[in-house]
Amino acid sequence: MNKKEIIEKTEYFVKETLSKDSTGHDWWHVHRVRNLAKRIAREEGADIFIVELAALLHDIGDYKFFQGDEEAGAAKVREWLSSLEIPPSLIDKIIEITSQISFMHTLPDKGKRENKKNSATLTISKELMSVTDADRLDAVGAIGIARAFTYGGFFNRQIYDPATKPNKSITKEKYKITEAPSINHFYEKLLKLKDMMYTKLGRKMAKRRHRFLNLYLKQFFKEWKGKM
Ligand code: ADP
Ligand code: NI
Repeated sequence: MNKKEIIEKTEYFVKETLSKDSTGHDWWHVHRVRNLAKRIAREEGADIFIVELAALLHDIGDYKFFQGDEEAGAAKVREWLSSLEIPPSLIDKIIEITSQISFMHTLPDKGKRENKKNSATLTISKELMSVTDADRLDAVGAIGIARAFTYGGFFNRQIYDPATKPNKSITKEKYKITEAPSINHFYEKLLKLKDMMYTKLGRKMAKRRHRFLNLYLKQFFKEWKGKM
């Protein structure tokens, strides 16, 4: 099978799989991440084929589909890629990206201040950087805001509750089970992403989208207080 066929088949597989999902993941998110990741990859000189495949598959292995089981997601991605007769070394590279992309993995474990595993010891490939930055960019800016409230609405979260303060140093365990209002998510994840970008283009775009988040929050709280 040539690269074009592999991409086309994978695109079809992802569309099919996500159409059955009920956790709020959607194909258009994958579409945007794929395009952004390819753009970043070109600037970084990363392998476009690996980036495109990993971007297409990045949410298929999401732990949320598997009741929190992080291994089951990787197994599903591996099963798909093996069915396409892709060489094992390439499969490993793609799994490395899809299993490390999640923001949650960067959060500290219970009782820890930071997640050392993610800051120092990992070797981060250009391909992983490109897909991760693209996924994170789609969580900020105007689209990120829309996605946060879509997620919150789906899981019956409130928009905002002054009595529930955001936990800026939230741990991995708490992040997984939080039922806090959607505005808290801005402080627990979205506003942190600007400083977590790996690539030059990612940083530049994140900075602009971050400014928009702040502008939005300012207006939100003015309206909340009836000042505007
Ligand atoms: P991604 O595909 O970007 O890795 P997730 O699967 O973690 O994102 O979440 C999907 C979308 O929902 C993202 O835009 C994310 O910021 C948002 N989201 C995740 N958790 C929450 C939450 N507790 N409250 C509001 N929005 C959330
Ligand atoms: Ni994603």
